[in-house]
Amino acid sequence: MGSRTLRVGIIGAGHIAHAHLRELVQQPGVQISAVVDVRADAARALARACGATACATVEQACSAIDAAYLLTPPRVREHAVAVLTAAGIPVLCEKPLAADVPSARRLAELVRAAGSPFMVGFVRRWHPPYQRIRTLVAAGELGRLLMVQRQRLGYLPLSQGNWRTDPSQAVGMTVESLSHDLDLLRWLVGEVVEIEGRVVGSRPELRDFDDTVLATARFADGTIGSWQASWMSAVEHNSLALIGDAGTAVLSGRGMWRSDSLTTAAPGATERVELLAEDEAADMGFAGETTTFLALARGEQVEHPTVEDGLRTVELSASILS
Ligand SMILES: NC(=O)c1ccc[n+]([C@@H]2O[C@H](COP(=O)([O-])OP(=O)(O)OC[C@H]3O[C@@H](n4cnc5c(N)ncnc54)[C@H](O)[C@@H]3O)[C@@H](O)[C@H]2O)c1
Repeated sequence: MGSRTLRVGIIGAGHIAHAHLRELVQQPGVQISAVVDVRADAARALARACGATACATVEQACSAIDAAYLLTPPRVREHAVAVLTAAGIPVLCEKPLAADVPSARRLAELVRAAGSPFMVGFVRRWHPPYQRIRTLVAAGELGRLLMVQRQRLGYLPLSQGNWRTDPSQAVGMTVESLSHDLDLLRWLVGEVVEIEGRVVGSRPELRDFDDTVLATARFADGTIGSWQASWMSAVEHNSLALIGDAGTAVLSGRGMWRSDSLTTAAPGATERVELLAEDEAADMGFAGETTTFLALARGEQVEHPTVEDGLRTVELSASILS
């Protein structure tokens, strides 16, 4: 694709589209050329804001784009992925890959058959403190990992009219949001071989809608792990702890997605507490995710969350819910 301008299409002009656009408009050699949404007014408004053309269908957008951001709710991905992969268009697909395992498998099949670039939006991989932890683990500084713990608590007000509370679209926290945390620990530790969990929902009118989850797992290397997450916690808290036989590292933050401090120690040694600078503490990872996807779309070989990572994460969520 060389140095030619990359024409990007946005499919799904909702909340997360704005986070992606903020990064995309800062990138050299990128033009937002098409916006697709089933809500024509939303497509028009976003298209106007970034100088793109509003399109009624993905098929219409295809001839005007070189890469696509698929930002629809998870139950409406299959048609777009079929059209985009058939046209060989690289796709950044928001997480979770799909709402359930059969759908995730169909999507993975489409992507494998097409062989075109496809990345799942597990944006937390680009949160700088998590990248530091990954470097610590890879360098063996924690030794052999024994246990990893992930806790993410916060409050998500779910308004009327949002797909998360529409019974025909809702998937619950374990499928939607925990996908970030499941992917994060797989990325840091390796494959999960056993997992089980308990979930609870605070919205009895929404059948099968969970917003609080507790899960435990064993990884392929024998490490044990746990996840605790809630959309109903009035206190926001974010932590990641890794305990190894040569050292422990704990990231902790005041906010659902922040990491304010990194505490490390070797067994028996004094703890070292590092307060993280604001730009690192609050970096959600969207900038790193954007440059990675654009490189992938331009044909570079870059490490990225693949469709297989997306599929595995949906399988893990399903096991927790089973
Ligand atoms: N990475 C993150 O941190 C993060 C944060 C929020 C949401 N998300 C993910 O982004 C996705 C969208 O969530 P959101 O909060 O932006 O939802 P949203 O409701 O704000 O936006 C979704 C948009 O998709 C449109 N849409 C629905 N069906 C469509 C179709 N068939 N074709 C085209 N457009 C269609 C809707 O009209 C809406 O404008 C979800 O998968 C969610 O999990 C990720």
